[in-house]
Amino acid sequence: IKRFYDGFPINSHPMAVCSAVVGSLATFYQNELNVRDDQEVEIAIHRLIAKLPTIAAYSYKKSIGQPLPYPDNSLDYPTNFLKMMFATPCEQYEVDPVVAKALEVLLILHADHEQNCSTSSVRLVGSSMCNLFASISAAIYALWGPLHGGANQAVIEMLQKIYADGGDVQKYVKKAKDPKDSFRLMGFGHRVYKNFDPRSKIIKTMAHNVLKSSSNSEPLLEIALKLEEIALKEEYFIEKKLYPNVDFYSGLIYKAINFPVNMFPVMFAMGRLPGWIAQWKELQKDDDFRIGRPRQIYIGTKTRDYIPIENR
Ligand SMILES: CC(C)(COP(=O)(O)OP(=O)(O)OC[C@H]1O[C@@H](n2cnc3c(N)ncnc32)[C@H](O)[C@@H]1OP(=O)(O)O)[C@@H](O)C(=O)NCCC(=O)NCCS
Repeated sequence: IKRFYDGFPINSHPMAVCSAVVGSLATFYQNELNVRDDQEVEIAIHRLIAKLPTIAAYSYKKSIGQPLPYPDNSLDYPTNFLKMMFATPCEQYEVDPVVAKALEVLLILHADHEQNCSTSSVRLVGSSMCNLFASISAAIYALWGPLHGGANQAVIEMLQKIYADGGDVQKYVKKAKDPKDSFRLMGFGHRVYKNFDPRSKIIKTMAHNVLKSSSNSEPLLEIALKLEEIALKEEYFIEKKLYPNVDFYSGLIYKAINFPVNMFPVMFAMGRLPGWIAQWKELQKDDDFRIGRPRQIYIGTKTRDYIPIENR
């Protein structure tokens, strides 16, 4: 697998690399592709959950030109991943347990979330009886899009914009409240959770713990905390039930841990993996299993004028 990484350009987006490598597992583990063999499926599931942190960390290490580390099986899941991400061969590296805990909680909170775009993709691809590696590879690509896995990245980009503009948080709160201005506070509000997002209640505590333990005096984090404080007190946000959502806090945590922005959706993919697998497995075991086949109904014009090709 390590050799695959040599084939990707150094500046490849880690989501492209992760999805490609996950799909390529089907070339190595050809005895785990039969979706109707419970034992093969079980092994593929264990393999995928165990390997994704290594695949993800390699995609990052490759992008910064550092050597690809080996996992440490004596460590727990998040600590092993953080070590692979941030340790280098020449220095001792201890993972901060507060950060490892926050990451573990984040991964759990992202595990499953109904029929979002990537989960529906897993089900549709899996409904052709396609193997697990290929189905998950498709889900990673679906998650890559900025409307799905990119919301926490949008939070950081907004904070960067506010910072570059002098750090005047009030100015941006005012813009967000102005009905004539299309600007919105990224990381605030949710389509389904109108009172509060139960996930962000938990993640908020984690974010504050990480920020306290972080030696990283990142100005964007200060802006984020100011924004959170002001917005939670403002009548506009209270009345419209616009609370900081899970993406607001996950973006902050990743930034405080020093993850580059292009790794944010990869973290999301790692968290969502067990949920995707559960959905895929449930689908394969469904008594009414059928290939997914959404219908398309043509509602356009029935006849069209055209100019014969010789007259054009
Ligand atoms: C998440 C989101 C898409 C939910 O949208 P929605 O349920 O369709 O809510 P609406 O777009 O209808 O907004 C309802 C009202 O709140 C306002 N509003 C919603 N989110 C806002 C925000 N983040 N900042 C400022 N105003 C906001 C809207 O302008 C609208 O005001 P109006 O009633 O005066 O027209 C929306 O809140 C948003 O765009 N948030 C920012 C992006 C984000 O964080 N996305 C990640 C979601 S997990």
